[in-house]
Amino acid sequence: MAGNLKGLVLAGGAGTRLRPITHTSAKQLVPVANKPVLFYGLEALRDAGIREVGIITGDTGDEIRAAVGDGSALGIEATFIAQSAPLGLAHAVLTAAEFLGDDPFVMYLGDNLLRDGITPLVEEFRASGPDAMILLQRVPNPSSYGVAVLDGDRVVSLEEKPEEPRSDLALVGVYMFTPSIIDAAGKIAPSARGELEITDAIQYLIDQGRRVEPHVVTGWWKDTGQVEDMLEANRLILDVIEPRVDGELVDSNIEGRVIIEEGARLVSSHVRGPAVIGRGAVVEHSYIGPYSSIAAGCVVRRAEIEHSILLERVHVEDLDARVESSLIGRDVTITRTAAKPRAYRFVLGDSSVIGLT
Ligand code: TTP
Repeated sequence: MAGNLKGLVLAGGAGTRLRPITHTSAKQLVPVANKPVLFYGLEALRDAGIREVGIITGDTGDEIRAAVGDGSALGIEATFIAQSAPLGLAHAVLTAAEFLGDDPFVMYLGDNLLRDGITPLVEEFRASGPDAMILLQRVPNPSSYGVAVLDGDRVVSLEEKPEEPRSDLALVGVYMFTPSIIDAAGKIAPSARGELEITDAIQYLIDQGRRVEPHVVTGWWKDTGQVEDMLEANRLILDVIEPRVDGELVDSNIEGRVIIEEGARLVSSHVRGPAVIGRGAVVEHSYIGPYSSIAAGCVVRRAEIEHSILLERVHVEDLDARVESSLIGRDVTITRTAAKPRAYRFVLGDSSVIGLT
């Protein structure tokens, strides 16, 4: 295949389904096992031998740039490309036209996770040399996805979130393209939801007689667009972490796969993995249960947490029920006060969700 293979990672978008977290920060930076979702994708590109990576950003561009820097810590060379508004995946391709030039590229949605990475797929793309290669996975609810209809090793049609899907093959958020997709993205019209859809651009290639190849992935794939998906991705990653204890344990015990990062301190607490406790976190007289990711700088005292993601510097103290299946944003404080009258006192951002029993 001609040209140097580049990466294009989409880290803009509105993130409406992950509000309120996305009112203030980028969904691609929500940590899974204490590492931003976005970094898994950047590392997958690096592992496939891709160095030059363009990163599409939107309203949260400053935060994405601060987290990725020049990319060297992740083994890539990052170029940031601001998208004027989240006008669709094909609009993002058009926005990146100058960066992409005449080179083929792997487009990776910045909130997607693939267990097995993309290295063999990139090799297949290089070897087979189609105009585009799309990744697919069988799903039970295809109408929530872009769906592909195949004829042997050719894709014959694509539909975005069809009411009556003609197959159960959903589009995974990783695509391999030649520059022909840039031309196609320029030819299509916005969809009913006002976006330039990548499915329409790929359909345009098919209609022009171009070769679009499918590849069905079998390892797990997660689009972390919603809270439940985030928690599931967190479970999948925590299940395969390498346990280690770099922090301090005082009168505490841990069982199962557990990472205690440097500077974290556990006092009279019990951690049952899989779980990760971030740098400088303090856990006292508490229980941290399976599938919990506690980020750096959190403080948990006299509380129980299970199957949850706590972002940086969350403070949880003196709760008399377990915190479960929760995603808690940065610098949130949840405490109990002794003050009377007995009442709940909340300071909540827009779209917050509280479940009390
Ligand atoms: P989506 O999850 O499809 O869209 P979204 O981020 O707007 O989220 P929601 O549906 O909850 O409002 O986007 C997939 C990825 O692509 C995600 O990482 C955001 C990114 N993206 C862009 O960079 N530019 C865009 O124009 C769009 C639509 C998405």
